[in-house]
Amino acid sequence: MQQKEQVALLRKCLELVVAGSTQLGERQGFSPISRYQDVAGFEREIERLFRRLPVPLVHASKIPGSGDFRVVETHRGSILVTRDDQGKVRAFHNVCRHRGTQLVNEDRGCAQRFVCPYHAWTYSSQGQLVGVPHGDSCFPELDREQSGLVPVRVEQRFGFLWAVADDIRFEEYFAGLEVELDGLGLESHQVFAEDRHLWRSNWKLVAEGGLESYHFRQAHKATIAPYFYDNLSIYDQFGPHFRSVLPKRNLDELKSLPEDEWRLRDYTHLTYALFPMMTLLVQADHVVWVHAKPLAVDQTEIAVITLVPSSEADRKDYWRTNHDITTATLKEDFALAESIQKGLVSGANQALTFGRNEAALPALQQVVESYTC
Ligand code: FES
Ligand SMILES: [Fe+2]
Repeated sequence: MQQKEQVALLRKCLELVVAGSTQLGERQGFSPISRYQDVAGFEREIERLFRRLPVPLVHASKIPGSGDFRVVETHRGSILVTRDDQGKVRAFHNVCRHRGTQLVNEDRGCAQRFVCPYHAWTYSSQGQLVGVPHGDSCFPELDREQSGLVPVRVEQRFGFLWAVADDIRFEEYFAGLEVELDGLGLESHQVFAEDRHLWRSNWKLVAEGGLESYHFRQAHKATIAPYFYDNLSIYDQFGPHFRSVLPKRNLDELKSLPEDEWRLRDYTHLTYALFPMMTLLVQADHVVWVHAKPLAVDQTEIAVITLVPSSEADRKDYWRTNHDITTATLKEDFALAESIQKGLVSGANQALTFGRNEAALPALQQVVESYTC
């Protein structure tokens, strides 16, 4: 992020501390509980958001060399992502072109050839069909050129490999955030640890919990609340995405520093909520990637992945401590999302209420509606 922008955000935080206030929306918001229960609506979200918009498959460090591959389960089915024998990243539907078997059953590995476990049709790392046992006699009409693996568009950007529908303009989708996301330098990070769990909550309840700081004092009193101001955060919207800034209690130290030394990451938690459901929690010296995958209207699988600079990866105890604090804190959030989901069936609330201090929540509601209504 440009220094000018960091200073502007930190100044805004300092002003709010002095005013004892937070960024306020114009009015309260209301969110009908059907948003979290309606199966048809959920299916529309999967179709229009999760099957089309950019979804990160893996961190790029996971397939560093030629032949390295990962198999990722997505809303578009199982996707095989690999680096071919020329070093180019490719992704394919993990489906054999003979009778449709899942081609690769391991979730990771290194291979220059993929051999189907059923009848041994064989594909190159570029997806071409290169082997058909008894092909000449049994498949005389087979057009091998047309029978390679079916490609999935993949983009390597911001340190991740993304699956994205052919008609989405990737750069345009992240307009306004490219410089900041590039500035995180995540292509020179690596995965330190990953925790994956299933939570019984609609994905939007999880997303909402990540977009306000009103809950910190109560919900995170056992973990990180003491490090933050109560009910103080600011957010900005970039198309469908949100950036929020939560000042830490060391913010006062800025007063004794020249502005050209103000560094946002040292005095705040910076969060990018990339629509539909990728969150980057930017800490002073590392980044946590929260990857959520809705499985049902009331179930979301969430992976918490700590990314650390590759040059400092050997500080294992330090990163472990950080990873454990983050996962403990996020479990507090996800358990509360489950708690809300559990209460919906009672009908006690027809709608959930968003305060003026939770203004990013109705904004997210509008974004979802803009894609699904
Ligand atoms: S289904 Fe793959 S070779 Fe037959
Ligand atoms: Fe939280």
